[in-house]
Amino acid sequence: AGAHSNRVHENGVEREDCRAKGGAGGFKVAVLGASGGIGQPLSLLMKMNPLVSVLHLYDVVNTPGVTADVSHMDTSTVVRGFLGKEQLEDALVGMDLVIIPAGIPRKPGMTRDDLFKINAGIVRTLCEGVAKCCPNALLNIISNPVNSTVPIAAEVLKKAGVYNPKRLLGVTTLDVVRANTFVAEVVGVDPKDIDVPVVGGHAGITILPLLSQVNPRFSFTNEEIEYLTNRIQNGGTEVVEAKAGTGSATLSMAFAAAKFADACLRGLRGDAGVEYCAFVASEVTELPFFASKVRLGRAGVEEAFPLGPLNSYERSGLEKLKKELQASIDKGFAFARQ
Ligand code: NAI
Repeated sequence: AGAHSNRVHENGVEREDCRAKGGAGGFKVAVLGASGGIGQPLSLLMKMNPLVSVLHLYDVVNTPGVTADVSHMDTSTVVRGFLGKEQLEDALVGMDLVIIPAGIPRKPGMTRDDLFKINAGIVRTLCEGVAKCCPNALLNIISNPVNSTVPIAAEVLKKAGVYNPKRLLGVTTLDVVRANTFVAEVVGVDPKDIDVPVVGGHAGITILPLLSQVNPRFSFTNEEIEYLTNRIQNGGTEVVEAKAGTGSATLSMAFAAAKFADACLRGLRGDAGVEYCAFVASEVTELPFFASKVRLGRAGVEEAFPLGPLNSYERSGLEKLKKELQASIDKGFAFARQ
C-alpha cells in the first residue's frame, strides 16, 4: 500500500487511517460474489468480525451499493468495493482469506450438480485471479457443487504452480450447523452445546452425519437416526422448496460461512484447538478430497483427523457415498484439465 492509502478524510479533516493498518490480528478478507444472496449477509457478518481489518467486496454487479451500505456500520473494519472483471485483481492483492460464494443457486427440482456448467467456469476464473494476486491466501469455496468446484480450484492453482492443499477448503459448515440444530431439537438441548461431525462431501448422500460421534454422546433410536440423517442430507432442498424458485439457503449459509471464516482466521492467528469439518485434500479415505474434521492453524489445514469408529449404518453410508463423490471430483478434474 502506498503512503496515500493510509490517509482518510472525515468531516473535512485528513488524518492517518489507523484502522487500515490492521494491528495485531487484523486480517484482509475478500468476498467474491459479495452482492448475492449469501454475499450480502456474509459481508455484513465479516464487517462485524474484529479479526478483519480490511474487507474487499467483489462482484460483477451492485458492489458500489453493497459497499456503501456495509461501510456505514460503525465497526473498525475498512470496506472497499470492486466491480467487474477489470477490478478483480485489485480486489485480491494482499488478501489473507478469500471467500467465494459466487455463482447461481438451485431452484426446485435441481441438484447441486445441475449448477456445474455455469459455476465451474466462474470458480475457475476467480481462482485464476487468486493464483495470480494472492497465491498464499486461504481459500474458502462456497459455490456449488462444492464436491466439484474444490477439485477445479485445486487444478487451477496447480496449473499456475501455486497449489498448497493446506490452503484450499470447501465450506461444509452449513451441514454441521443444520446437523447441530436438528439433533438439538430431537434431544432437547441448546444447539450451542452440540457438535455433530459431518463427513464425506456436500451434496445429498455424500453428506454423512456421524451420529455415533455426537459430542456429547447421545444414543438414538433407529427411527431417529433415519430421520436425522435424511433431514441433514436434504436440508438444502428443504430450503430450496420453501423458497419456491427464489433461491437456496442464503442467511443460514452466510451465518455458517462467517463462523467458518472466523475459525480460519483464528487458526491463522495461531489459536490452539480450532477444529472444524471441511472438504479438503485428504488421506482420510482413498478419495483425493473428503470432508472430515480438520485442525486449522497458521498453515491452514494443519491436520485432518481420521473418521474414528463408525457403526454399521455409517459404514454402509460411507461405502455408498464414495462412488458419487469420486465421480463429482473427477468431473471437476476433467473440466479444469480440458
Ligand atoms: P445469488 O445468485 O444470490 O448470488 C450469486 C452472486 O454471484 C451474484 O451476486 C452474482 O452477480 C455473483 N457472480 C456471478 N458470477 C460472478 C463472477 N464471475 N464473479 C463474481 N461474482 C459473480 O446466489 P447465492 O444464493 O448467493 O448462492 C451462491 C452460491 O453458493 C451458489 O452456487 C449456491 O449453490 C452456493 N451455496 C453453497 C452452500 C454451501 O453449503 N456450500 C449453501 C448454499 C448455497
